[in-house]
Order: sequence, then C-alpha cells, then structure tokens
Amino acid sequence: MSAGSSSPDPQAAARVLGERLDGVPEVMLVLGSGLGALADAVVDARVVPFDTLPGFPPPGVQGHAGRWVAGTLEGRSVLVQQGRYHLYEGHPPGVVALPVRTGRALGIGTLVVTNAAGGIRDDLGPGSIAVLDDHINLQGQNPLAGPVHAGDVRFPDMSEAYDRALIALADRSAEALNIELAHGVYAAVSGPSYETPAEVRMLGRMGADVVGMSTVPEVIAARASGMRCLGFSLVTNVAAGRSDQPLDHAEVVEVGRRAGATLERLLRAIVRDLPPE
Ligand code: 6GU
Repeated sequence: MSAGSSSPDPQAAARVLGERLDGVPEVMLVLGSGLGALADAVVDARVVPFDTLPGFPPPGVQGHAGRWVAGTLEGRSVLVQQGRYHLYEGHPPGVVALPVRTGRALGIGTLVVTNAAGGIRDDLGPGSIAVLDDHINLQGQNPLAGPVHAGDVRFPDMSEAYDRALIALADRSAEALNIELAHGVYAAVSGPSYETPAEVRMLGRMGADVVGMSTVPEVIAARASGMRCLGFSLVTNVAAGRSDQPLDHAEVVEVGRRAGATLERLLRAIVRDLPPE
C-alpha cells in the first residue's frame, strides 16, 4: 500500500511484472468482455496472471480475475490486460485502476481501452462500434481520491480525456478497413443492476450515447499520470426502454462475438499505425 490504505502500490507490481517482460511495451490494451480473443493473436506471448503480482486481488466468485499477455501484435510491442476489476464486484477504485497504474509505472505511455456497453443513441444498435469522444462519470467514486500517486497530478485536466490524434487514427483506420465507426460519449455507472428505462432517458438527455460499468476509472487514472488514451465501446444491446424486444442473452453473446471480431481488426490496424508519443 502506498497512496491510501485501499490503494495498492503500482510501483511494487511493476517491478515484479517488469522482470517477466522483455523491455517496456509501447502500448497497453485493456480488453473488455467478449474481446479477449485479441490476446490470442499476440506473438511470442508471455502470460502473467494478475494475482501473481503484489496488490492484485485473487479471482473472486466469478473465478476469473484476469491476466497480462505481453508480446508482439502487428509488429509492435504490446501489453494486453485481459479481464479487469470492476467497482460492482466490490473492489475499491484503487484496485480497479491498479492495472493501468502498473502499466504506467512500467513506462507505458499509451492506453487503449475497450468495453461492452448498452446503446442509448438511436443509431447505436447491437453490433455498433463507437470510439469514445468523452465520458460522464456517474460512478460516485474517483480513483484519484486520497493521497496523490507518484507521477500523478492532483487535479488533472479532463478536457481531452481521449486523445484527438488517436481518435483521428481510429477514424482513418476504420475507413481503410471499411468498418463503420461511430463516435460517442460513454456514461459510466456503478452497476451491477442495469438501468431502468427512466435512467436511460436521463442518460440520453445528459448527453450520453452508450452506458457501461467500466473504463472511466482507468481513463481517469491514466490521464492523471499523463498517458494518452483511446477508448472503444462495443454495443452488445440497446439500453433499457430503447427497444420493445426483450433482451435475449444468446443474441447478445452472438452479436458481441461477431462485432468483437470487427473491433479486433480495427485495433490491430491502430496498433500497427500507432504514432510515437
Ligand atoms: Cl444496457 N448497461 C450497463 N450499465 N452496462 C452494460 C449494458 C447496459 N450493456 C452492456 N453493458
């Protein structure tokens, strides 16, 4: 523990992880639910389970905490975070942000985050992919509360949380691959209950286009330490009240699998063409 009693020390975790890696990766990729397959595409992969690092909690009741997959993707050196800690599992924000802080402590300067989300805006149906222009933090928590972590600023500017140049790269890559890429604002709620139709109407009027339960703590922690961030939502279903169809889980899984493969193609192109910091 370094900064605050419930905030584990990313420097200690990075020392252990760094010993298993071959140099500092260029980019860290956080894979959300349904997107884990991209980790299998990593060449010369070194796999490190989360809970072998100090401060990383063991798998909970769901039985899968997550793991690091380090190696090469499209000729670039990557650190993939497969699985994440969520606030709704009862983890404190310092634990949710720990993997990103560990990547930063290793010296990584670029973060690409992905998530599965519910679509709020009318044109964001199941299978849509949105690059995040901005977010709204409705989780009632912030990973920066408490003592300032080494290398962080106390009051980080969030006016460009998602890097304009990386968003433009995402647009160019999508166009070259003939992939339809929307833009959107991500609302992060704490969950784990899904929204009511009234809450979804509220979120839409607030300016949110997609809604989910992750990503924002990681991006806040990353911005505080000066990382450039790029985020994507894979819309697996429309949010409550936006369709008269009841949610069919099998369909959601199938949509996620198919659109997940498309997002993986896009991520590979972006990693390949990532400009130096
Ligand atoms: Cl509809 N809501 C939230 N909060 N998270 C989600 C979702 C909806 N669909 C996928 N993840």
